[in-house]
Amino acid sequence: MNSFKFYLPILVLLQILTSSLATLYPVSVANILNAPLTIHCIAQGQNVSRDNAPAGFVLNMSIDTNLANPTATCQLSSGNLQGNFVVFDPSKEPNRCFNGRCLWQARPDGLYLVINGQFSLVYKWP
Ligand SMILES: *[C@@H]1O[C@H](CO)[C@@H](O)[C@H](O)[C@H]1NC(C)=O
Ligand SMILES: *[C@@H]1O[C@H](CO)[C@@H](O)[C@H](O)[C@H]1NC(C)=O
Repeated sequence: MNSFKFYLPILVLLQILTSSLATLYPVSVANILNAPLTIHCIAQGQNVSRDNAPAGFVLNMSIDTNLANPTATCQLSSGNLQGNFVVFDPSKEPNRCFNGRCLWQARPDGLYLVINGQFSLVYKWP
């Protein structure tokens, strides 16, 4: 018989199962300083960077926890402020990121993350 017709429903089912298990996390870093911010991130091995991002700029990345090395770190600098921060860690996410989104803000006192719907100071500038 036609084996393709037999396997097709199984393939469709597998597709539905794997897509429901897909775990894509948007991760963003916003500049809420009154000064330009240089953002150099490595997200899952990819270089995502912006030099001298103006106030209000939002750098976007995404992390797929089904793929290898699902981590993201960013080196941020603005004037005297600088630091290297983990912005996605699969051992902490998704519990810390709100609704599967990791929204970070660089502010004068440090790096904030939306946790349970509220911006919380997670890292002070070193
Ligand atoms: C990543 O981007 C920064 C800033 O543009 C650059 O200095 C660095 O060489 C890049 N690294 C890689 C591995 O592409
Ligand atoms: C990042 O995503 C936000 C929300 O979707 C969007 O408003 C912003 O323009 C994006 N930033 C860049 C640099 O594309």
